[in-house]
Amino acid sequence: MAAVAPPETEARRFAFGRNWAKFLRSLDAGAIERARQSLCELLEVDNLTGRRFLDVGCGSGLFSLVARELGATVVSFDFDTQCVACAEQLKRSRRPGDSEWTILGGSILDRSFVESLGRFDVVYAWGVLHHTGQLQTALAHTGLLVGDGGLLCVAIYNDQGGRSRRWRFVKRLYNRLPRALRFLVVGPALVGLWGPPMLRDLVRGRPFDIWRNDAARSRGMNPWRDAIDWIGGYPFEVARPEEIFDFYRRRGFVLRRLITCGGGHGCNQFVFRAGPPAAAEGGSTGL
Ligand SMILES: C[S@@+](CC[C@H](N)C(=O)[O-])C[C@H]1O[C@@H](n2cnc3c(N)ncnc32)[C@H](O)[C@@H]1O
Repeated sequence: MAAVAPPETEARRFAFGRNWAKFLRSLDAGAIERARQSLCELLEVDNLTGRRFLDVGCGSGLFSLVARELGATVVSFDFDTQCVACAEQLKRSRRPGDSEWTILGGSILDRSFVESLGRFDVVYAWGVLHHTGQLQTALAHTGLLVGDGGLLCVAIYNDQGGRSRRWRFVKRLYNRLPRALRFLVVGPALVGLWGPPMLRDLVRGRPFDIWRNDAARSRGMNPWRDAIDWIGGYPFEVARPEEIFDFYRRRGFVLRRLITCGGGHGCNQFVFRAGPPAAAEGGSTGL
């Protein structure tokens, strides 16, 4: 795994919650449905009835909402107070007074907080652990939260070597600049991100296909908010797929699904099952 990022001060972290608050303003039924489908496809389920679901670094709270709608009892937490407020706002608007959905403030790096949560049938940490500044600790703590035979879903940025280091520089710069000057980073970064695919779509005679088929959109995300999250998301660490596989294999997890980003700059997605291989293969939890 790429070298651990130095601890960052609050001021240098990306304000995820601010971005999620803007995302929630445009959230509609179609996006919620796409998020539901993406969760079902990743877990290969059509419901989560009776399951305990933990949303680590819940961000907007969207995946907590869909897990709850699929029948799970949900605990969501995030380190960023504005994200916690976003999840609470989403709960108030979509599931007011729901006692089976608990939202907490807390960090995956805080061992005593993690131990206070208990263990879960599904632990979902999508796009979170590489933003903590301590990826190894975050991966280890997340593994502790999975109950026997439970599922662990993690999505971790792909290690592209020099390209990842250059993106790390861009992200640091974005967060160091005053807000009014961030367009100086966002503009060129967007050209780099969207320029080549837009040109390709144009040549194929299908302009703006990138907006319709954007990978983020298939999770219910908004491509613009997702691009800002990518450009600003810092701290930032990356890992090769085999590093994540080995990390959890050594801790008794069995890989059930792997969806890579095809060597690009996105996330590799992993679904592991907890427990030794024999038990995991033989002992179904029904999920
Ligand atoms: C890219 S967002 C992903 C949000 C959500 N999981 C999703 O899939 O939409 C990353 C989230 O990780 C959260 N995060 C960063 N460091 C964290 C930590 N130490 N503990 C818990 N959450 C953290 C951020 O606040 C942010 O909401």
